[in-house]
Amino acid sequence: MTERIGHFIDGEYREPSGGRYFESTNPATLEVLYEAARGNQEDVRIAVDAARRTFESNAWQRTTPTQRGHLLRRLGDAVAANAEELARFESLDNGKLLREMRGQLKSLPEYLYYYAGLADKVQGSQIPTNSPEMLNFTQREALGVVGAITPWNSPLTLTVSKLAPALAAGNTMVIKPSEYTSRTILRLAELTVEAGFPAGAVNAVAGFGGEAGAALVDNPRIAKISFTGSTKTGSAIAASAASRFIGCTLELGGKSPNIVFEDADVPNAAMGVVAGIFAAAGQTCIAGSRVFAHRSVYDELLERVSERASSIKIGDPLDDGTELGPLAFEDQLVKVRSYIELGVSEGASVHSGGERPDIELPGYFLQPTVLTEATNEMRVCREEIFGPVAAIMPFDTEDEVLHLANDTNYGLAAGVWTSNLQRAMRMAQRLEAGTIWLNTYRAMSPMSPRQGFKESGVGVEHGLESMNEYTRLKSIWINTDEGPVADPFVMRG
Ligand code: NAI
Ligand code: MG
Repeated sequence: MTERIGHFIDGEYREPSGGRYFESTNPATLEVLYEAARGNQEDVRIAVDAARRTFESNAWQRTTPTQRGHLLRRLGDAVAANAEELARFESLDNGKLLREMRGQLKSLPEYLYYYAGLADKVQGSQIPTNSPEMLNFTQREALGVVGAITPWNSPLTLTVSKLAPALAAGNTMVIKPSEYTSRTILRLAELTVEAGFPAGAVNAVAGFGGEAGAALVDNPRIAKISFTGSTKTGSAIAASAASRFIGCTLELGGKSPNIVFEDADVPNAAMGVVAGIFAAAGQTCIAGSRVFAHRSVYDELLERVSERASSIKIGDPLDDGTELGPLAFEDQLVKVRSYIELGVSEGASVHSGGERPDIELPGYFLQPTVLTEATNEMRVCREEIFGPVAAIMPFDTEDEVLHLANDTNYGLAAGVWTSNLQRAMRMAQRLEAGTIWLNTYRAMSPMSPRQGFKESGVGVEHGLESMNEYTRLKSIWINTDEGPVADPFVMRG
């Protein structure tokens, strides 16, 4: 019988209150891997209540900053000790290369260690005012129960990006993982208890977005929502959060430009383009899906990218030699293929790829695809495809490409390939995106903050700044004067 996994609530696995489960499949083989609990409003209520109880408990309130840092360090150690199992589970569930998952699992403890080091640096400041008798200072305090809703493309990394700062700041959490990848997140919640966090500090309710996800967003005891996923869902979540005046951090989609100038190292730039759009089968928010190449190097870049794309080894994500796995689930494949058709109907041509590769595995595979004759106005260049599909377009001048690059609703990331330092800096200043890569692409670190501009998000993830997303600021006034209250009808300051 298929393995069944419950929610992880208040320190233990629990049956779903509605008694229903749903299947998770391996997108490479189409085998059913396990069944996860199908969360409903009641499950979410139980989890949020547990998180709130733990938040208010003396034990949690008296956990010192140093102890919280220590717990996060132990969680990092626990993740490292279980790295192979977690990498394998995630690779089976979403089709990401095991090789890439092993890499992610190497850096994942570093996220936890980084925020472990920040747990005892959540501090306010003493503020000068114009009243000598008044002492004014600020403190940063935890919000309460943070609701985290995360996607399937890099479930552990994207969840830990929220969990680590939220716990470092002293919050407790309820996580709703993607319905396509519940398992590693349930296991992560379990590892928090093994690392010594109290029961209820981290809870995970599996289930669908419209059910468990919406119930989490609407739960009145949630203090904050932190979401990574599509711009459409992010917009619905922001509207719901606004109606209750709670904050949200949103890490959303992208349509990032990857720009190759005539003075670039073209072979290197071509590899950067391949990394930007074909790594992880293009299923990343930072995918460099709009490639702009200066007309004088356009043919060479196109040839190099297409050549490498055509030789990409497509196959089982568990095999060491594989370079491209399947898309994560059937709707994703249908969506990506329909965008390729749409592009053609808009006037673009499929220069290479676009078909199911000739392999034995039955899963949701698609050849890496290069579109030419596309324009920045086409829907394939305006909407997030979230698959291995690049449009390569020529340009003539720096001003022109800057305009094209910024002519998008998104603003997550941008890449620039050039050997001209002045030009690189000009582009970095003028591109409207939260992350700029010069002569590289897809570099990331827990220490480096990222923010989506425009429709790519709200708030900051990673880095020192992300701690502010999980705290609120309190200003405290102390009167040091023991004399009688002066005029009660005049404001003091
Ligand atoms: P999604 O945004 O619908 O799902 C992300 C998370 O939100 C999942 O946990 C889902 O269960 C939850 N969710 C969905 N509807 C919700 C609601 N009404 N209330 C609360 N939570 C809700 O994205 P999905 O369906 O997984 O993928 C669809 C497309 O979204 C992709 O093809 C891609 O274009 C984009 N996407 C972008 C991501 C990014 O990192 N920028 C990540 C995942 C998807
Ligand atoms: Mg799956």
